[in-house]
Amino acid sequence: MIDTHSHILPGVDDGSKNIDETLGIVRQLHEAGFKTLIATPHVLEGASYLSPAEILAATELVRQAVAEEGIPVEILPGAENYIFPDMAKWVRAEKLMTLGNTGKYLLLELPLFEIPHYTDQVFFELQVERVTPILAHPERYKGLIDEPERLLEWAKKGVLFQLDYMSLSGKYGPKSKELAETLLRSDLIHFVGSDAHRVSRREGSNREALQSVQEIVGEGKFRDLTVTNPQRVLDGDAVQSGGEYSQKELVLMKTKEKRKRKGFWARFRS
Ligand SMILES: [Fe+2]
Repeated sequence: MIDTHSHILPGVDDGSKNIDETLGIVRQLHEAGFKTLIATPHVLEGASYLSPAEILAATELVRQAVAEEGIPVEILPGAENYIFPDMAKWVRAEKLMTLGNTGKYLLLELPLFEIPHYTDQVFFELQVERVTPILAHPERYKGLIDEPERLLEWAKKGVLFQLDYMSLSGKYGPKSKELAETLLRSDLIHFVGSDAHRVSRREGSNREALQSVQEIVGEGKFRDLTVTNPQRVLDGDAVQSGGEYSQKELVLMKTKEKRKRKGFWARFRS
């Protein structure tokens, strides 16, 4: 399996603090079944900016340490880029690291509480640059928990989605868990990632959450999410985002209705 989201580069963001912690995380992800990890440190415009050259150098250090430890896991460069209006310009100037450094797919994140008004514009401008936006953990944003139909609009425009599989364990709260399940059932997820920042306290938690994903989507689709689609990204090939959107819409609408009804009855109870 290929992990499309991890904070394993030591000392560059809020993830791993040192190489020992990195090796601990890598070992756990290997035990969970990952053979390839894409390192995706947070990249922000401004003071915390990390250049592609810096990411490549840090990735190389981790790659060497992992090889010296004899852990059979490949480490590849990437980034989790925090959205800002000039993203497409920065991509054109090769100032943002793409997933696997192929120049084809950009993993990006939004603020957790508010969807910026320029989000659609950024997606569009990236696509004009022939770069496919991959939104990290859509299930974790309040704006999208409240309005999941926006995800459907973006999916129709060719935006891809990466789920944090730990959302299935409830790590990010019941609403994120619910949206994660809905998105998986609606066939709206294209990749899964650990989003690992440190060694998990409980052994086996990665494997359990991955198992939950597989139980929802089935074996074939699980392989798409963990092997086929991420491999296409690394090869710079197109990822199938197809399928019938009508079915997806149906599942999303049902969830929305359920939420509305809950809100309606809650008024009587209070
Ligand atoms: Fe992350």
